[in-house]
Amino acid sequence: MNLLKRCIYGFSIITLASMNVQCKSDKKSEQASQDATTAEAVTIEKSAYGTTPKGDKIDSYKLKNQKGMEVDIMTYGGIITSLKVPNKDGKSEEVVIGFNNLEQYTKDNPYFGALIGRYGNRIAKGKFTLDGKEYQLAKNNGENALHGGPEGFHRVVWTAVEAKGGDVATLKLKYVSKDMEEGYPGNLTVFVTYTLNNENALDVLYEATTDKKTVVNLTQHSYFNLSADFKKPILNDEIVIDADKLVPVDANLIPTGQLTDVTNTPFDFRKPKAIGKEIEAKDDQLIKGKGYDHCWVLNNQDKGYRFAASAYDPTTGRFLEVFTDQPGIQLYTGNFLDGTLPMRDGGTYAHRTGLCLETQHYPDSPNQKSFPSTVLNPGENYKTKTTFKFSVK
Ligand code: GLA
Repeated sequence: MNLLKRCIYGFSIITLASMNVQCKSDKKSEQASQDATTAEAVTIEKSAYGTTPKGDKIDSYKLKNQKGMEVDIMTYGGIITSLKVPNKDGKSEEVVIGFNNLEQYTKDNPYFGALIGRYGNRIAKGKFTLDGKEYQLAKNNGENALHGGPEGFHRVVWTAVEAKGGDVATLKLKYVSKDMEEGYPGNLTVFVTYTLNNENALDVLYEATTDKKTVVNLTQHSYFNLSADFKKPILNDEIVIDADKLVPVDANLIPTGQLTDVTNTPFDFRKPKAIGKEIEAKDDQLIKGKGYDHCWVLNNQDKGYRFAASAYDPTTGRFLEVFTDQPGIQLYTGNFLDGTLPMRDGGTYAHRTGLCLETQHYPDSPNQKSFPSTVLNPGENYKTKTTFKFSVK
């Protein structure tokens, strides 16, 4: 229509011959601008992933941009099954640990790629009190509750309520966790929206509302190996964590309640430092965590959404920056990976071949009065955002 209008306009002011030229060149420029739009588009494509042992059909969504990044997310556990990003030579490769079939995810999965809720990290003895009423959760980590319970949000089926491409690709997942599911009070309606843009950033937006007072602490549990060589431990990765303080833990990885200064400890990542540099130090906290498995108290909490941490693999040049509005971040260095779980194309995932950067509130907050609150009341909106941004250097 535009083209026609312009041609008519052209006809009134110029000769037939020159109009012909004008229309041709308009056609060309329209085609070019269409190409530009297509070239910039971030796409999303749905496919069937499999059927769970309970008979649920699981879909997978591939979000793909024009900068060599693609992310596969399935409706089971909202799990990121694959994330590919370019290295410094422009070669796009897999950088997250994962399995190659649904069955394995439903069997034994230490949260590979999964959405974690209702409460990410540990709650001491699986117990907490709200308005004088004690709630008992399943103990799925020794005496403690971990990552929302045995099924949590990582082993449930999410519904894709929106899947669209364009300038960015968006996958919005929904899950309704019933009152007293895994022992938590209140019907909790949760939305998690994954958005991929053309700057190689993946946003994860978490939203929730409840009809009864409850606790909420949602996170994402992808294990990154930026080298793309899953046989190689992540010990050479250089980490930065913008945190002056740590949440120290006891032998069961439950916070002691203090927040300690990281200065002159292996937990000081305010300047880039290889994970492996001090991981074997005779440090009480490292011994308790069997490596790094701790929550840091992020700086600049009053700023809201800001830089939190980064990981850099010097061999491939891949650089991951994490931004969040959350008060804490758990760095977990795959200390429990023990060579029993299968890699995608043969072999098994060995000790420390992946690292997690889990943005969150501090562990055991429901029992720690001095920690920022994780309580969600009816009428309130839980809303938090984390970004995983990839580049090379
Ligand atoms: C979290 C915990 C770890 C471990 C892993 C999964 O990061 O903090 O202790 O449980 O999940 O194995």
